[in-house]
Amino acid sequence: MDIKCELVPEDSRKPIPQPDELGFGIHFTDHMFVMDYKDDKGWINARIIPYSPFTLDPAAVCLHYGQAIFEGLKAYKGIDGKIRFFRPMENMKRLNRSAWRMCMPQINEKDLLDAIKKLVDIERRWVPEAKGTALYIRPFMIATEPFLGVRPAKEYILSVILTPVGAYYKEGFNPVKIFVTDKYVRAAVGGVGEAKAAGNYAASLMASEEAKEKGFTQVLWLDAKERKYVEEVGTMNIFFVLDGEVVTPELTGSILSGITRDSVIRLSKDWGYKVSERRISIDEVIEAAKSGKLNECFGTGTAAVISPVGFLYYKDQGYKINGGKTGPLAQRLFDELTGIQYGEKPDPYGWVEFLE
Ligand code: COI
Repeated sequence: MDIKCELVPEDSRKPIPQPDELGFGIHFTDHMFVMDYKDDKGWINARIIPYSPFTLDPAAVCLHYGQAIFEGLKAYKGIDGKIRFFRPMENMKRLNRSAWRMCMPQINEKDLLDAIKKLVDIERRWVPEAKGTALYIRPFMIATEPFLGVRPAKEYILSVILTPVGAYYKEGFNPVKIFVTDKYVRAAVGGVGEAKAAGNYAASLMASEEAKEKGFTQVLWLDAKERKYVEEVGTMNIFFVLDGEVVTPELTGSILSGITRDSVIRLSKDWGYKVSERRISIDEVIEAAKSGKLNECFGTGTAAVISPVGFLYYKDQGYKINGGKTGPLAQRLFDELTGIQYGEKPDPYGWVEFLE
């Protein structure tokens, strides 16, 4: 792919935030990648330009009918100074799966990854150094055709923006408190829950705002039909250790197919755990919590990494998990994954790609 570059003069570039100012998704780098799609031409005008607002027609389809998808991956500065990506091709593939589900055009996965590497290369100085920080990469696609009516748009923009980040939750790696909702649902089987569609996140806001008001970090969703089976947290997939068995909900179409989720399954199996991707009812989780068999609970995600859950609240009752502390498997997974991502540990699975 031929990418035109228009760079901000060095002396006009933004100051880099201090490590303690990073937060998540607050600061954006000097440049962004953009390309356009037209039905009769395919993807055109690939460019890296100064970070700037888009001009959108008020009738742009994304504003009315929600054709908008995204991805999230990170570039890590290793202890050897090298910049690493973690399984980035999986994000490219998932972007295409989301695009397919939302009737949006496919991208060339390798070309997009090359474009991302080029952008990160230009923005090298923005990759933070401290462990636990990273440069979060946000590729996204929106429908831009000016048109009112419900059919797939014929014009799109694909863009990539970059933001240096610290921990996603204010708790960092400390256990979070999760509210299990049976009032709202996030996604139904047959819907778009497994796509990284912007609307899925809008649909989750009401429940998470209510949960935050009550002092919880996030919401655990149940299935839309019976409100009985555990699905995911919305910002992360969920895992339980039940009497030694590692259990995570199977991918039914309403759950995001997390890349960290997949990595955790692989690691846990290789460490000798029995790992089951299966339906798991909230009643089974609560029973296990009551009988002392719920050894651990944790979430997984690119933003969340491994996020231990210390407390679950369901039907007016709270349950402390592992004494409210990080469990041994969550700790080991966190150490292993971040060890691979920051170059402190070997990468036996070939999960890392380097920025040359
Ligand atoms: C990610 O984990 O990268 C996500 O997209 C989740 C989002 C809540 C930041």
